[in-house]
Amino acid sequence: MLDLVDVSVEYGKHNKVIPLTNVNFHLEPGDFVTITGRSGSGKTTFVQVCGGLLTPTTGRVMFRNTELHKLNDTELSRIRNTSIGFVFQSFNLVDYLTAAENVSLPLVFSNTPPSERSERAARMLNAMGLSSRTDHYPGELSGGERQRVAIARALVTEPDIIIADEPTGNLDFETSRTVMEIFSEIHRQRRTAILLVTHNPWIADFGEQKIHIIEGTLH
Ligand SMILES: Nc1ncnc2c1ncn2[C@@H]1O[C@H](COP(=O)(O)OP(=O)(O)OP(=O)(O)O)[C@@H](O)[C@H]1O
Ligand SMILES: [Mg+2]
Repeated sequence: MLDLVDVSVEYGKHNKVIPLTNVNFHLEPGDFVTITGRSGSGKTTFVQVCGGLLTPTTGRVMFRNTELHKLNDTELSRIRNTSIGFVFQSFNLVDYLTAAENVSLPLVFSNTPPSERSERAARMLNAMGLSSRTDHYPGELSGGERQRVAIARALVTEPDIIIADEPTGNLDFETSRTVMEIFSEIHRQRRTAILLVTHNPWIADFGEQKIHIIEGTLH
């Protein structure tokens, strides 16, 4: 479903950083892959390339036989919006929208009728334990609550791939476990492929395949 072929990413001209070096990776429907590695090893860079958010300097990213970076912005956005749910390390919520509106946003782009949008957003927020926070703005939420809104937003479209960059980084043990159980349930029921970055060994153990990144290479 998703293939990275000889992918490298380079940043900068004077202070050159090469966070990914010649990476090959293959993801099938139903795969559950967890990624660990030290801070700065290239995990975020790797998942951003996988999600079509970052164009590699060299190499190709294929999604269902389409080369992602040969698509125009509209086509790329459509794939990202319908097939890939991305949980950002820094959440990326829209500050002037409420929690419910943030979660509904991807459904606006996919032309889902308004009543269905609110219903699905409410259901996802409820699953994240946030039914009493639906009308709060991101600025009125704790870090962990914001993180769960970001997760709800990534799951609400029922994507084929969920890419989550440290989705439990701000959560306590119990809440982390609840979130991981939700990921596992979606993975089991819908064969959703999951690509998840974590620093926690017990969360990495949820993965059926575990990847360790060392200085931009997969192990
Ligand atoms: N826009 C950028 N310009 C220049 N260098 C960058 C840029 N983004 C990331 N880097 C560098 O690339 C390297 C890999 O960064 P990346 O964010 O992928 O690491 P990470 O493994 O996700 O780290 P963390 O665990 O801290 O989130 C780092 O050394 C970082 O400084
Ligand atoms: Mg990172």
